[in-house]
Amino acid sequence: MKILFLNGPNLNLLGTREPEIYGRTTLADIEAKVRERAAKLGAEIAFRQTNQEGELVAWIQEAKGKFDVIVLNAAAYTHTSVALRDAISAVGVPTIEIHLSNVHAREEFRHKSLIAPVCRGQICGFGANSYILAVEAAVTVNG
Ligand code: DQA
Repeated sequence: MKILFLNGPNLNLLGTREPEIYGRTTLADIEAKVRERAAKLGAEIAFRQTNQEGELVAWIQEAKGKFDVIVLNAAAYTHTSVALRDAISAVGVPTIEIHLSNVHAREEFRHKSLIAPVCRGQICGFGANSYILAVEAAVTVNG
């Protein structure tokens, strides 16, 4: 079981970015926790971040045949990107949408996810733990 974690714009700033919303855990800390949990469950992890929409699209396309599941925190692109949504449905690799914050309890523009309809499910609102819950969801995604 191979899981590809993809992180979108500004998530490289975790730890110092609006800590009252996103917490003080850095993306490197989250990656370490994800790797620890995944190792216990026997899953292999790739973990990447980019600020560029096109790079996320390219990584989703390349995942076909290489990864069993994608876990995607598309950050702001969640709410804007038809290209990401199209890539997820084109490639057909089961994708789990995640967010640190509870996007439904925040500004109205965050309530709409363009990717949600093509994802298997959504995990949000649990801070860094959303990533750990996503590992658990990923290993059981196909039953
Ligand atoms: C986020 C929520 C998005 O609305 C926001 O643009 C982000 C982070 C989260 O993890 O809570 O950058 O995806």
